[in-house]
Amino acid sequence: MPLQQKHLLGLEGVSAADIGLMLDTATTFREILERPIPKVPTLRGLTVVNLFYEPSTRTRISFELAEKRLSADSVNFTTSASSVKKGETLKDTIRNIEAMKIDMVVVRHQAAGVPHFLTQCVQAAIINAGDGMHEHPTQALLDMFTLRERFGRLDGLRVAIIGDISHSRVAGSNIRGLMTMGAEVMLCGPKTLMPRDVEKFGVQVTCDVEDAIAWADVLNVLRIQLERQEAGLFPTMREYHAEFGITRQRLERAKKEITIMHPGPINRGIELDADVADADYSVILDQVTNGVAVRMAVLYLLGGNEESVS
Ligand code: CP
Repeated sequence: MPLQQKHLLGLEGVSAADIGLMLDTATTFREILERPIPKVPTLRGLTVVNLFYEPSTRTRISFELAEKRLSADSVNFTTSASSVKKGETLKDTIRNIEAMKIDMVVVRHQAAGVPHFLTQCVQAAIINAGDGMHEHPTQALLDMFTLRERFGRLDGLRVAIIGDISHSRVAGSNIRGLMTMGAEVMLCGPKTLMPRDVEKFGVQVTCDVEDAIAWADVLNVLRIQLERQEAGLFPTMREYHAEFGITRQRLERAKKEITIMHPGPINRGIELDADVADADYSVILDQVTNGVAVRMAVLYLLGGNEESVS
């Protein structure tokens, strides 16, 4: 069955069948990545542009690696070395890039809605690599892939998302994806960092991190996004850590093993203590490894290529 969409703009409205197809396809690519030569000719002849208007380490490098592992041709765009600095608009930029004959665009932008806008400017398939506070679908897919790998299921799994929910595109995509796949979701953080209309998601909400830890199988811990928020949403970083920081002592009080996730980058000692981030019950680096396989799957399924995976 092909994917029921031309673009990946977010997980809102994406069916369980499509999410399952992306995760199953990623399983095949995850095996390919363990081979001595982790490369297949599947997307030979396709050209992908990585259009990054915001900084990124994990997403940009894993998309680049995914494209190379699939034998696609890829080009990287960064604003600092582009004619955006001379005032060129986003529409002109993408239309000029498409005139050079490209097939797919991976886009990260500080403004929500940019991936959708690009679908109206060009014919290429668009993949959202994070748009403002809106969605980061491939992050949620790699998170779900990592959970499925660890627990063998998503259905009924209890995932607590802790921290700066209102500014987080990772939270947005995770809530949508996890709920579609039958997981239970709890949001935990200061009231000032909770979306005003949080009830619409149909999730549980708490401001007590001990409650969230007692309830959850998994904590997905988020970074405080200082670059996206106005001042005064919580008193100090020290106070945030005291109220919401994930520490070994807090986890030990729960008397059960809890899996720790974080999309990165981590602010060690603020939302997550260093010894927890590096503990054997943390899957943070597994998330990063799985990100390459998941992005290979998305590129493959949207690339419209008839060749078999291997
Ligand atoms: N998780 C994530 O999006 O990290 P980067 O900003 O480094 O891509």
